Amino acid sequence: MADATDLLDAGERLDAEALRAVQLERLRASLRHAYAHVPFYRESFDQAGVRPDDCRSLADLARFPFTTKADLRENYPYGMFAVPRDRIRRIHASSGTTGRPTVVGYTDSDLALWSDMVARSIRAAGGRPGDTVHVAYGYGLFTGGLGAHYGAERLGCTVVPASGGMTARQVQLIQDLQPGIIMVTPSYMLTILDEFERQGVDPRGTSLRVGVFGAEPWTERMREEIEERFAIDAVDIYGLSEVIGPGVAQECVETKDGLHIWEDHFFPEVVDPVTGEVLPDGEKGELVLTSLTKEAMPVVRYRTRDLTRLLPGTARVFRRMEKVTGRSDDMVIVRGVNLFPTQIEEIVLRTPGVAPHFQLRLTREGRLDALTVRAEARPGAAPDVRDAAARAIAAAVKDGIGVSVTVEIVEPESLERSVGKIRRIVDLRPRQE
Ligand code: DLL
Repeated sequence: MADATDLLDAGERLDAEALRAVQLERLRASLRHAYAHVPFYRESFDQAGVRPDDCRSLADLARFPFTTKADLRENYPYGMFAVPRDRIRRIHASSGTTGRPTVVGYTDSDLALWSDMVARSIRAAGGRPGDTVHVAYGYGLFTGGLGAHYGAERLGCTVVPASGGMTARQVQLIQDLQPGIIMVTPSYMLTILDEFERQGVDPRGTSLRVGVFGAEPWTERMREEIEERFAIDAVDIYGLSEVIGPGVAQECVETKDGLHIWEDHFFPEVVDPVTGEVLPDGEKGELVLTSLTKEAMPVVRYRTRDLTRLLPGTARVFRRMEKVTGRSDDMVIVRGVNLFPTQIEEIVLRTPGVAPHFQLRLTREGRLDALTVRAEARPGAAPDVRDAAARAIAAAVKDGIGVSVTVEIVEPESLERSVGKIRRIVDLRPRQE
C-alpha cells in the first residue's frame, strides 16, 4: 500500500499560509455569489449593513449575519438557490421531523465537489482505490447513501449500494462480496452486529477493515465496542445536507483524534450558542459553517446546532473538530440539569450485563420532568447482574451528570433497532399549549 501522504490531493497539500489565502479568496467570491443571486442573502446582508467586499480578512466573516434552519424553511423549496433551475442537477432533502422539510440543490460542479470530498474522506479513513465499499446508509432524499456512493466511486472503489434495512441480507452481502470498508450509521452497525450473531457468523472474521460511521452522535465507548466486536477500525464522518451532505469533516484512521474539517471548501467557526459571539479555537460551542465553493446553494454562517470545538490540525493541515457529542436540539433538561444522550451512552456501554442498546423516556411527574433510561440486558444476564446494572447506571448518572433517573433493564432484543439514524429520546410529556 502506498504511503498515505503520497495520495493527498492538491487541497490537502497546501501549507497553512496558502490555505488561508485560498480560503479568503474563495470566501469573498462565495459571499459575492450569494449576495448577487439569493434575495435572502441580499436582504440579510443589507439589514446587517455589510457588503461582500467588506470581507477583507477571514475574521471579517464574523460581521456577516447567520443563516438558520428556519431561514431555509421559510425559503422552501427553491428560494435559497443561487443558480437557474435548469442548472440544478440533483435535489436532496432533510427529513424534517416537524413542519416543512428543507430542500438542498446541487449543480454538476457541486456534485463533483461532493464526490471529491467524500473520496478524500474515505481515503483518510483508510480506503484505497480498488477497495470494495459496502454502503448501508439510506439511499434517497437523505444524503448519506448517494453521497457515500459517488465518493467511493470517485476514489476508484467498487461500490455495493446496499442502502439501509433488510439486515439479514446485509450480512449475506458482507460475507459474499467481501468488502473492506463499510459506511453506515453506528447504530445500524449494532443492528447488523446482532444479525451476525443471530446467524451464528463470527463478526470478527469478516473481510471488513474499516467502518466509516456518522450521521448521528456516537461516543468513544461506542467506537471501542464496534472495533472490538468486529475487529475493524471505526472512524467518524461528519456532514449535513444544508452544507453538502457527508464529507464536510472526517477522522483520519492513523490518528483517530477528531475530524479534520475540509476547510478549503467549508469554513468553520465556533460560536457561543446564546450570544452568537465567535469563540477562540479550543472553546466549545456551536459549529457554524460557510461554504466556500458551492454554486447551487451557498450557505453563509449556517448554524449547525452541533456542539464541538476547533482544534489544530494533526494528520492534515486542516483544523479538527472534536467528535460531536450532541446537538443543542437533543439536549434534555431534567430538573434543571442539561443532559445529552451521548452521556448516557458512555455510561450504558461501560456497564457489565447490558447490551449497547438504550432509549431515554421523558415523562412528566406532577410539574417535574422525569427521565427513564431503558437499557437492554445482554442475552443470558442473570437477574442479579441486571439489578446490579440498573443500580450502577443510576449511580453513574447521579454522580456524573447530577440527576436522578429511573433505570429499567429490559429483555434482550426488546428495544426498537435502528436502520438509519437512531432516535434515542421518546418524549411522552404532555404537549404544552
Ligand atoms: O446526516 C449527513 C451524513 C450522512 C453525515 C452520512 C455522515 C454520514 P443530515 O441528515 O442533514 O445529514 O443530518 C445532519 O446529523 O447536523 C449532526 O447533528 C448529525 N451528524 C452528522 N454526522 C455526525 C457525526 C447527514 N459524525 C446532522 N457525529 C448534523 C455526530 C452527526 N452527529
